[in-house]
Amino acid sequence: MSFLKEIERRRTFGVIAHPDAGKTTLTEKLLLFGGAIQEAGAVKNNKIKKGATSDFMEIERQRGISVATSVLAFNYKDKKINILDTPGHKDFAEDTFRTLTAVDSVIVVIDVAKGVEEQTEKLVEVCRMRNIPMIVFINKLDREGRDAFDLMDEVEQKLQLKVTPLSYPIGMGYDFKGIYNIWEKNINLFSEDSRKNIEDVISVSDLATGELDQLVGNKAADKLREELEIIEGIYPEFDREQYINGELQPVFFGSALNNFGVRELLDCFIQIAPSPRAKESDTRIVDPKEDKFSGFVFKIHANMDPKHRDRLAFIKIVSGTFERNTPYLHVRQGKKLKFSSPNAFFAEKKEIVDISYAGDIVGLHDTGNFKIGDTLTEGEIMSFIGIPSFSPEHFRYINNADPLKSKQLEKGIDQLMDEGVAQLFTLEMNGRKVIGTVGALQYEVIQYRLEHEYGAKCTYENFPAYKACWVRPEDPKSEEFKEFKRIKQKFLAHDKSGQLVFLADSDFSIQMTQSKFPSVKLGFTSEEIK
Ligand code: G4P
Repeated sequence: MSFLKEIERRRTFGVIAHPDAGKTTLTEKLLLFGGAIQEAGAVKNNKIKKGATSDFMEIERQRGISVATSVLAFNYKDKKINILDTPGHKDFAEDTFRTLTAVDSVIVVIDVAKGVEEQTEKLVEVCRMRNIPMIVFINKLDREGRDAFDLMDEVEQKLQLKVTPLSYPIGMGYDFKGIYNIWEKNINLFSEDSRKNIEDVISVSDLATGELDQLVGNKAADKLREELEIIEGIYPEFDREQYINGELQPVFFGSALNNFGVRELLDCFIQIAPSPRAKESDTRIVDPKEDKFSGFVFKIHANMDPKHRDRLAFIKIVSGTFERNTPYLHVRQGKKLKFSSPNAFFAEKKEIVDISYAGDIVGLHDTGNFKIGDTLTEGEIMSFIGIPSFSPEHFRYINNADPLKSKQLEKGIDQLMDEGVAQLFTLEMNGRKVIGTVGALQYEVIQYRLEHEYGAKCTYENFPAYKACWVRPEDPKSEEFKEFKRIKQKFLAHDKSGQLVFLADSDFSIQMTQSKFPSVKLGFTSEEIK
């Protein structure tokens, strides 16, 4: 197959959801369709059970599983599908945000009874800001839930999206009869115990005839006709270009557990979802079809075995092909590196491959060269942007609890920060180190890993911060900036890349600081402020 065709046929996406909405179940059913797994239950539930904060075995188990399910690739029809796993647990939200830098589109799963939940809002906001094409899947139609129109309203309002249904449920819960596929104009009748496949789909060319009544009963048939009329009146017709530009989001209904409505979703997905998209670097926009290779690190995973300190760096290939044993430029370090055993992913397995294409993910063994956001090229000096650090929400001083192991502690902290487990801030005033995380769980993970992987011990102490604001003065020599630094000195720190950060203790303090020092700009991500 030609190079261009290979790229054209790739679909790299993520499934995002509030925990328990059905992300794992849906992913598994997609894999079943792709023939990548043979039976349900093969994809382990990649989530930390609630209340497991002190269960280190659970954390370790989770880390092991998340390597296996980080990328799930399979072929479906003539497409190569790469699903990137996004942890639903909110303490790992930053990991999810970073994974979203590597997807070309997403599927958002919403529970029909719960509607839009907190994590859904946060994750969709990140996708919306980046104009990532989104498809909404409303799940668990086999249960009693909210009215379909109400839900679509809520999606539009809370998530600030513009939706149009491409499938529509006939009844719900106890009365759930099936799905009308607006996209393909046919009906899939629901029956809980039959294994659904394509033969079960009945085409109905004319909804006005008695055929529909025979299939679903008069009452449901009338209701469907009425509701489809309303849909035609109030929702726009699906327009692929608008979807690709992130301006219109198609909605599907179904039940992942019953494997119902999933085929409709997947068949439409492969037709409308984008092939690898162009990505912005600090010098230019890079097109996936350029023949020269480029890519960036969006995830780093430490080895589970403490005797082997190497890590797996996940690279999204942005353009060209990545080839084994070929020297590539590590732009930040300015040196060429060769990889003898790049891993590609297939279903839950990883295997060494000679060549991968734009859109694919390769896993590279790394002994400490990479950090999140690093760019690899064939020689061009450029760095991909849009892989920012977000402000943490928890802050603690980290102290060395074993003075004989300070080197180990330093190395451990350094590497864990490169992996993106948390962020390190060094206070300007006294050089003390503050660790910022998205969730409290990370502190336990860090403590545990420092001890077991690096032989170092640490303790924490509260640090009274609420948000990290990256600081950029309009004029670094101005009196105003000097005054800002003098007054806020106790709360100023440097992040790992040396950028100045103001660790604010409240929203009020951020507002006061902004009005008092208008020429000192504050940003909530590391990139906003560069
Ligand atoms: P997540 O990855 O988004 O966190 O959700 P997951 O797929 O693990 O699903 C959460 C729960 O919802 C699971 O039940 C799952 O079986 C159920 N579920 C998923 N899709 C559907 C659906 O279409 N209909 C119904 N009725 N339930 C669905 P659980 O009891 O928490 O876990 P399990 O013991 O079944 O694994």
